[in-house]
Amino acid sequence: MTVAEPNPPVRRLGDWSAARLRELAAGYGTPLYVLDLDRVRENAARVRAAFDREEVSYAVKANTTRAVLSTLHDEGLGAECASAGEVQRALDAGVPGDEIRYTAVNPPARDVDHVVDLARDHDLTVTVGAADTLDAFAERGYDGRLCVRVNPGVGAGHHAKVTTGDAPQFGVPYDRAPGLVDEAAARGFDVVGLHAHAGSGISGEDLSAHRELVARMGDLARSVGTDHDLAFVNVGGGFGVPYRPEEGPLDLPAVAAATREAFGDADVRLGVEPGRYFVADAGVLLTEVTAVKPTPETTVVGVDAGMTTLIRPALYDAYHEVRHLGGAGRERISATVAGPICETADVLAADRELPRPERGEVLAVGNAGAYGYEMTSNYNSRPRPAVVALDGGDPRLAVRREDLSALTAMECDNEW
Ligand code: LLP
Repeated sequence: MTVAEPNPPVRRLGDWSAARLRELAAGYGTPLYVLDLDRVRENAARVRAAFDREEVSYAVKANTTRAVLSTLHDEGLGAECASAGEVQRALDAGVPGDEIRYTAVNPPARDVDHVVDLARDHDLTVTVGAADTLDAFAERGYDGRLCVRVNPGVGAGHHAKVTTGDAPQFGVPYDRAPGLVDEAAARGFDVVGLHAHAGSGISGEDLSAHRELVARMGDLARSVGTDHDLAFVNVGGGFGVPYRPEEGPLDLPAVAAATREAFGDADVRLGVEPGRYFVADAGVLLTEVTAVKPTPETTVVGVDAGMTTLIRPALYDAYHEVRHLGGAGRERISATVAGPICETADVLAADRELPRPERGEVLAVGNAGAYGYEMTSNYNSRPRPAVVALDGGDPRLAVRREDLSALTAMECDNEW
């Protein structure tokens, strides 16, 4: 008998118990997100062990379910938030204000108002990526903790649409960062840090973009640090996870060592803020087969989860593993797994070998814990799915399934 590793660096879709997942689908209905909080804790423990001298935060945009926010806060992580809504949800989940950073990217005036309001009672840190954003906060009387987001000129990512570091919309150009720090300090802000994020998808094979970004931030910290008393430099998130079965896990201790080495010596605390890494393999999406249609090209397996449930394949051509939670001994077919949305893009997986499924059976989609539920929509008037969280193995409904009334709940009661 093999003894399971206590905290393996990756949990594959095949590691989940099919019987247990079928039971959850039967009990809660489909489409259903299942989130294992124990796995979230394991992922956090691994990141913290590798980055034991650094400050580790959670980029909450990957999954803002309260169960996840409070679990990761209990694991000692701060929260990086991309909107006033995320800041509010982090506070509501018990994250103290001084562990929350709000990264203001072209922030809507309403967000700035709300964050400045919250900052009166909570010691938040605001990260600005433009002189104009500094003005927007100054105009409202904010002069609290401030971090300057730098565009490091180095990007990385699993897809052009998630490569951030060299996109001009994020951060002040590298050479202008010292000037903005000087200006902010002169205007009375409490400048505490610098920030940069390369994009999503640091991979074990190639750490060169990450190294370059970190080295540039180290240089900046040393030059800005001569005039300003910086507390931290955050070098972002983007730690990749193996979506494909043949991909290996990220070697976190190697990433941590490369990060420290590239940064060099500076009198500041280094920080990282992954999102995906904590939650991706802690989540699966369960979906019921709704129609099986042999065609000359492929067998189309229709399912009740589509691009409104998990948009990553449609938006980024992302690969997610698909598993039939039954069908042992059946003939294997090449399948195209498609959702119920009237769009050609509504394909969760193409050319996948599966035991021939039948209507009513359940498939599982792997690595769905990050940017899955978070990016759901009501397109085609599809109610959002439910989320069930497993804690110590026990299931608890974390987010209720929407019903049809949710679709019109915000419409005004006019006589159109
Ligand atoms: N920090 C900042 C400032 C970010 O913008 C992001 C992600 C992160 C940290 C966390 O990146 P992560 O560790 O999760 O890769 N929806 C896309 C990902 C978009 C990420 C946007 N920013 C996807 O499904 O792949």
